[in-house]
Amino acid sequence: MARHLITSALPYINGIKHLGNMVGSMLPADVYSRYLRQRGHDVLYICATDEHGTPAELAAKEAGLSVAAFCAQAHDAQKAVYDGFALAFDYFGRSSSQQNVEITQHFARRLNENGFIEERAIRQVYSPTDGRFLPDRYVEGTCPHCGYDKARGDQCENCTRVLDPTDLINPRSAISGSTDLEVRETKHLFLLQSKLQHEVEEWVARHEAEWPQLASSIARKWLTEGLHDRAITRDLDWGVPVPADTWPELAAEGKVFYVWFDAPIEYIGATKEWADEDPSTRDWKSWWYEADKGENPVRYTEFMAKDNVPFHTVMFPATELGVREPWKKVDYVKAFNWLTYYGGKFSTSQKRGVFTDQALEILPADYWRYFLIANAPESDDSSFTWEHFTATVNKDLADTLGNFVNRVLSFSRKRFGDDVPEGGTPGEAEAKLGEEIARLLAEYETQMEALQFRKAAAALRALWSAGNSYLEEKAPWLEIKTDKDGAALTLRTAMNLIHLYSVVSEPFIPATSAAMRQAFSLADDTATWVTEAEAKALTAVPAGTPFTVPPVLFAKLTDEDLETYKERFGGTAE
Ligand code: 2FM
Ligand code: ZN
Repeated sequence: MARHLITSALPYINGIKHLGNMVGSMLPADVYSRYLRQRGHDVLYICATDEHGTPAELAAKEAGLSVAAFCAQAHDAQKAVYDGFALAFDYFGRSSSQQNVEITQHFARRLNENGFIEERAIRQVYSPTDGRFLPDRYVEGTCPHCGYDKARGDQCENCTRVLDPTDLINPRSAISGSTDLEVRETKHLFLLQSKLQHEVEEWVARHEAEWPQLASSIARKWLTEGLHDRAITRDLDWGVPVPADTWPELAAEGKVFYVWFDAPIEYIGATKEWADEDPSTRDWKSWWYEADKGENPVRYTEFMAKDNVPFHTVMFPATELGVREPWKKVDYVKAFNWLTYYGGKFSTSQKRGVFTDQALEILPADYWRYFLIANAPESDDSSFTWEHFTATVNKDLADTLGNFVNRVLSFSRKRFGDDVPEGGTPGEAEAKLGEEIARLLAEYETQMEALQFRKAAAALRALWSAGNSYLEEKAPWLEIKTDKDGAALTLRTAMNLIHLYSVVSEPFIPATSAAMRQAFSLADDTATWVTEAEAKALTAVPAGTPFTVPPVLFAKLTDEDLETYKERFGGTAE
C-alpha cells in the first residue's frame, strides 16, 4: 500500500496569516490528510514556518527582538492558531532548524560537485548607514518612467514597470531612509538552472497530465519563458550559512542561502525534525530517499496557492534533479486561486480581511473549516463576504446538520428515554434512504480522492440533506401518534445517520464530529470509515445503545452578528 506524504506551503514567519492563506494551503492539506488517515492509509503531513529572508529580519527589528528570538516567538504564535484550527500536522517544524541547515548545505555541495553552481560577482546597492547590502525591494526612490516617488528597486507599483535599483532617481534605503548609498561588487553563488531546463521539461511532461490545470499551465509558462540561472545566496545575518568547507571565502563574508533555496528543502528538514524526536520508531529518510521503491512507495502531494506553483513545479524539482540523488519529487500539485475579501485583496500589510487568530476569537474552528473548504478557490478566485459566510453557516451547519442532530436526539429522549429505541422493521423508506446514502458516500469518496474539495463538500452536504428529507417524509412526531414502533424505527435510523455523519464529516469538522460520536455510548466504537454495506443498512448503532443529547452544535448567526462582523472588519470592497 502506498504511503502518503503531504506538505502544505510553509507560511512565512512574519505575522499571523489570513483566511486566504489558510484555505490555499494548510486547511485542504489537513482535510485530505484526515480523510486518508481515516481510510487507513499511512500518512505523514508535514509543515513548518518559513523563517529566513529579509521580511523576517525586518519584522524582528520592528518588534525590537533578535531575529532568533522573534522567530521562536512567532513560530509558537502561529502554531497556537493552527492548533486552534485543529490542523493535525504530524510535525510543524522550523526552517531555521539544524536539520534544515545540514540538508540544505548537503544539497548545495552536491549541486556544486555536479557543476550546477557557479560563483559570480555582481554589483549591488550597499548602505553604510544600515551596514548592509540592500535587496532590490529595499531601495526606494522616484520612478524614471512615471515620476512616482515611492517606487521600489524591483518594480514601480504605480506604472508596474520592472526596475533595477540603479534606475531610481534619488534612491534611499527603505530601512533607514538613508540616501548615502553606494554600489559595491560582491560575490554570490548562482544556481545554473539553464543547464537543467531540458531535464525539468522532461520531468514536468511526465507529470503534468495528472496535475490540475492551474498547476500545469503555470509550470508550462515558466518553462516556455526559459529557466534562468539565479543567485541563491544573500548578504544577510540570518539564514542557512554557505558551508565553509566548500566556499571558505563566501562563508567568511557571512553569506547565507536565499530563503527560496532552503524553504522547500525544509519539507525534508522538518521530516527529519519529526524523526529526531523519536528516532527509534521514525525513519525520515524512508519518506524522502529512494521512496519510490519497495513495498510501500511514497505518493507525495503538495498544497499551495498559485503564486507558489513555479517554485514547486519547476525550481525545486530543478534543484532536486541537479543533486543527482534519488530524493522524492512531488507527484501531485494541488494549487489554489485566491480567496478575495469582497472581491478585493486580503492584505496582511493593509490589514484588510480576516486573520486566522481573529476568526477563532469570533467562532470555533469548525465554522471556518467548513465554510472555507466548501468555497475553496479551486477553479477560480472566490470571494469571502460576511453575508455569504453567515448564510452558509445558518443553512448548512445550523439547519441542515445541527438541527437534525438535536431534533432527532431530543425528540427520541423525550418519547423513548435515554437509549436508542427498539421496534419496527426497516421497510421501503429505509431501503431507499440506504441506497441514497451509499450513492452519496461513493460520490464523496470519489471527490475526496480527486482532491475536488468543493465537490466533496457538496456531497457531504447532500448526505446531511438526505437525513432531513427522510425525517420530513417519515415525520416521527406524527407517526408516534399511530405507530409507536414505526416512530422508533425512524428515530433509530436517523440516529444511525448521525453516527455515520460523525465518521464521514470528520475531515471537515473534527470537533463537531467528535461531539456527535460521543453522543452514543457504543461499545468498541472504532469505526474509521463506513462501508457500502453499512451505509445501506444503517444499523451500526443498535437499539438499546445509551445516548445523550449534545449541546447545540452550531449557533445560528443573527442579523446583528452580521452587522457586528461587518463593522469590525469592514464589509465592502477596497
Ligand atoms: O509564499 C509563502 O508563504 C512561502 N513562505 C512559501 C514557501 S513554500 C516552501 F517552499 F517552503
Ligand atoms: Zn513608475
